Amino acid sequence: MNATFRFAALAACVAASAGAAGAGEAFLLQTKSTTMAFCRENGSWNMVHYGAKVESAADAADLAWNRWTGGHKYEQRRPAAYAAYGGDRERGYGFNKWGGLQVTHADGSLTLHLVGKKAETVPDAPGTTHLVLRQRDRVYPFHVVQHFRAVETCDVIETWVELKNGEAGAVRLGRMDSFAMGFPLLADGFRMQYATGQWGAEGQLRETPVERGQTVEIGSRSGVRDAFGNNASFMLTIGEASTETAGRVIGGALCWSGTWGISVQRDNCDYVEIRAGADTSAGAYVLDAGKSITLPKFALTFSASGKGQVSRNFHRWAREWQMPAGGKLRPVLLNSWEGSYFSFTEQVLHDMMDGVKEMGGELFVLDDGWFGTGKYARDNVHRDKVGLGDWVVNPEKLPNGLSGLSGEAKKRGLKFGFWVEPEMVNTNSWLYSAHPEWAIRERNRPVNVGRGGSQTVLDYSNPAVRENIFSQLDALCSKIPDLAYVKWDANADFFNMGSSHLDAAHQANLPFDYTVGLYDLLAKLRAKYPGVDLQACSSGGGRVDYGFLRYADEFWASDDTDARERVFIQWGESQFYPACAIAAHVTDVPNHQTKRVTPLKFRFDVAMSARLGFELHPKNMSAEDLAFAKKCVASYKRIRPTVQQGDLYRLVSPCGGSHAALMYVNGDASHAVVFLWGLVRANWSNFVPPLALQGLDKAKAYKVREINVVKERHCRVDGKTLRGESLTSMGLPVRLRGDYDSAVFELTAQ
Ligand code: GLA
Repeated sequence: MNATFRFAALAACVAASAGAAGAGEAFLLQTKSTTMAFCRENGSWNMVHYGAKVESAADAADLAWNRWTGGHKYEQRRPAAYAAYGGDRERGYGFNKWGGLQVTHADGSLTLHLVGKKAETVPDAPGTTHLVLRQRDRVYPFHVVQHFRAVETCDVIETWVELKNGEAGAVRLGRMDSFAMGFPLLADGFRMQYATGQWGAEGQLRETPVERGQTVEIGSRSGVRDAFGNNASFMLTIGEASTETAGRVIGGALCWSGTWGISVQRDNCDYVEIRAGADTSAGAYVLDAGKSITLPKFALTFSASGKGQVSRNFHRWAREWQMPAGGKLRPVLLNSWEGSYFSFTEQVLHDMMDGVKEMGGELFVLDDGWFGTGKYARDNVHRDKVGLGDWVVNPEKLPNGLSGLSGEAKKRGLKFGFWVEPEMVNTNSWLYSAHPEWAIRERNRPVNVGRGGSQTVLDYSNPAVRENIFSQLDALCSKIPDLAYVKWDANADFFNMGSSHLDAAHQANLPFDYTVGLYDLLAKLRAKYPGVDLQACSSGGGRVDYGFLRYADEFWASDDTDARERVFIQWGESQFYPACAIAAHVTDVPNHQTKRVTPLKFRFDVAMSARLGFELHPKNMSAEDLAFAKKCVASYKRIRPTVQQGDLYRLVSPCGGSHAALMYVNGDASHAVVFLWGLVRANWSNFVPPLALQGLDKAKAYKVREINVVKERHCRVDGKTLRGESLTSMGLPVRLRGDYDSAVFELTAQ
């Protein structure tokens, strides 16, 4: 036994703490079914357990991670609440070579040795416990304040870190992770699931073992489209495998829209470190003397019953705690993009409004192509080559402006919204002509450009840039009465790395300061226009992250609107993000991205499993299709509360199979909706194994009713009333015939 371990202190505290942090040297941070335990050893704070609930004080103390033995002594490390480079030196045989925080002090010294000054709970919202650990370097006046905020009913813990440089000169942060938890190897195997992808194929799930001596790292280096490649989230299975319903899983998501990195490192002996934070690969962040910095929030959860529960915990937390209005039902909308691209007149848009109104939609959104003036007008000829940065209506295209359109929408009983891309500028714009120094650019090098051969990114670290964009957007929005929605797009990365605003010593601060600036602007707009819904878009799903979702109500899941592709994309995004945030639009066929032709029913059945919308010109639809669409929208409005606000149960994964299924269940399990999608059925057969339903009240009886029916029905017990128990145990008997056949069932408790 480690003689220096303050066993008695932990035991006493655990005994004293009932659901909240205790006093003294150790804490149990409790949620409904999980516990995160901390204690102070030799002055440093350690995290000694994170996982399923611990109720017994004595057991918790006996089993604390601190006390693990084995492995090679030289390499043995203690668990840490915040693993820092240079910490863990009491053992006298080395220190932590990893660590999520690396500080080069003002005098050039490279290590950090944190000692805990004070731990306390601070007042916070009802239903949360907010623990604050205050630490500083043993020698240098460098301070670390770590926050852990337990959101009890969701089993989610939010954590973030404030750093304060009390030294006489600037310090350099070589790594500045928000979370760096070190712990003993809790099982022989570890597996990491993450979502990766590219334009048109976001959210593709992959899972990889984390072997001895290995680091699995995901990240984004793009600056803007932070979720375009990998998503800033992961599920770590502790053990050989987990499923939707079984296995120990830690789920984590970094709430950040800038460059980021997440890694799971497993050493050659028995130590594991999870790290997540803003990325510093452009160079160390320079924190000036006397300055503080708050690092992005990281949210984590633990499930002892598989990945499905991780998702449900995150969805609930997102709706109730993270998103600005997560409990609000999202409208059925039509976005003009795929229906008209840049080629529209006011008449075209009015016709679209008529169409979406007829189908039962509630909101019309004008996409790209409405702005820019004179030689920089974004018209049908110049398209995406000009105009970004000039947020003024093109009067030739829209003589009555955005307020005219909003009025037309209102006449039809629709709400109105528009598209904007505020972080970007075309080199062909009035803004760039006046302020080339406002673009992110490198000294002494030409500006690299992206889309349209002229697009680049504005320097949001510069308050003057943000002020200009705020004034432009404010001038626009304030003139549109009843503005309901803004689509915030961002279609470029940091093609250049350099800021005219930051001085030579602070150039590497750009990626971080950019994102802080972005949030500053979003917060200002949201405060001024609280009733306006915001969609996060970034060339499709490039901005699917919980940093942006602090300000946004939903995200555009992908520019790929092929329903078959969307089954996979939305499946991947559903791992962490709730259905109310996933924008899914029914579009025309052949699909504009993949050329695939799928039945209209299949397109509805897929889009209705998230936030339903349209991206087509209703004028091109046949009377029969319009009638079907009308029926689907009416059904969607009925199932919408359950889909958008219910609990998700993923039943059959599309990955590797010929079909997929999931279901949503409302709060009191009185209503459920089951979605079944056939993919390409390689060998002819109607057979699909019965869908073992989840989340139902076993004692209740449910009436099964198929909706969105065209001709064929897909279930032989359609119309019957069956017990929740039987539907769970024996499953719902279903069938599919042919490629892209699909079905939706509504279950209503009788
Ligand atoms: C991006 C978005 C699309 C659309 C276009 C407009 O690609 O992802 O939805 O808004 O820009 O240019």
